[in-house]
Amino acid sequence: MVASGTFGYAREMAGLVTLSRLGGIIPKTITREPRPGNAPWRTVETTGGMLNSIGLDNDGIDAFIEHHIPYLCSVGTAIVVSVAGRTHDEFVGMCRQLDAVDGIAAIELNISCPNVSGGVDFGTDPAMCERLVSDSRAACRLPIIAKLTPNVTSIADVARGAAAGGADAISLINTCQGMAVDWRRRKPLLGNVLGGLSGPAIKPIALRCVYQVAQAVSTPLIGIGGIATLDDVMEFLVTGASAVQLGTANFYDPTVSMRVLDELPDALRQLGASTVAEVVGTLVAKPVSKH
Ligand SMILES: Cc1cc2nc3c(=O)[nH]c(=O)nc-3n(C[C@H](O)[C@H](O)[C@H](O)COP(=O)(O)O)c2cc1C
Repeated sequence: MVASGTFGYAREMAGLVTLSRLGGIIPKTITREPRPGNAPWRTVETTGGMLNSIGLDNDGIDAFIEHHIPYLCSVGTAIVVSVAGRTHDEFVGMCRQLDAVDGIAAIELNISCPNVSGGVDFGTDPAMCERLVSDSRAACRLPIIAKLTPNVTSIADVARGAAAGGADAISLINTCQGMAVDWRRRKPLLGNVLGGLSGPAIKPIALRCVYQVAQAVSTPLIGIGGIATLDDVMEFLVTGASAVQLGTANFYDPTVSMRVLDELPDALRQLGASTVAEVVGTLVAKPVSKH
């Protein structure tokens, strides 16, 4: 799959990628009301990655349903709609509204955006996470995926909350909070000062999160974070992810998802497997004692 915020609303990538080959597309997160996002700069290149503080710039759920859903649902792959609310009720209300829309495969709850105030509480407090997932689950028939932030002391605890709330899957991770500075001007580079780090630089953090969460819950996991090659994909699968999303790599290597798909069968064969399911969570490692 391709990760939210890194693939636009898919139209932008249609000339480069055979969209129907993807396992799924997660368009940019939508909110109840339109949001202008944060002041520039909104992105900065860093060593092995990038920082962003977009601030959930989007036209709101009504415009999304009217203008983007018809196209997205025509491309021939699963469409996972990413939503973010300022409040519990806003999240649940958006799930209810999307339940009435044809053609959506699942909802991803973005309870992990570091660039909006309030948005991350649901992803840092296990009890709030559980209640949000549970009420979202009850509000619609679609599978509910909880997308977690790594910016917590114990991601396993938050994952337990999501699992207890009935999450059908857990995506991890969103970006790692970071900062970039221009020392000559004595200024932060991002308009929002802080932003989210993504790209190859965060892959070890994401793998660690998948490893810890795979031991904490039996919910299927979707690995995200710095995936840019088939080797990266395989690392996430054996560590415990049942699926993966490619994010930042789409910006600097737009056809990466196609290449990964081409290469996947051979890598599976190297492990004596013919399906992804056969390799998921087959890592041989001693369990972590504390997470
Ligand atoms: C420019 C940019 C915008 C993003 N916007 C969103 C978003 O709207 N919703 C979301 O859930 N994640 C968003 N993300 C996070 C990605 O979906 C992904 O979780 C994260 O970047 C880690 O994966 P990667 O290292 O492969 O990019 C954004 C990431 C970037 C770089």
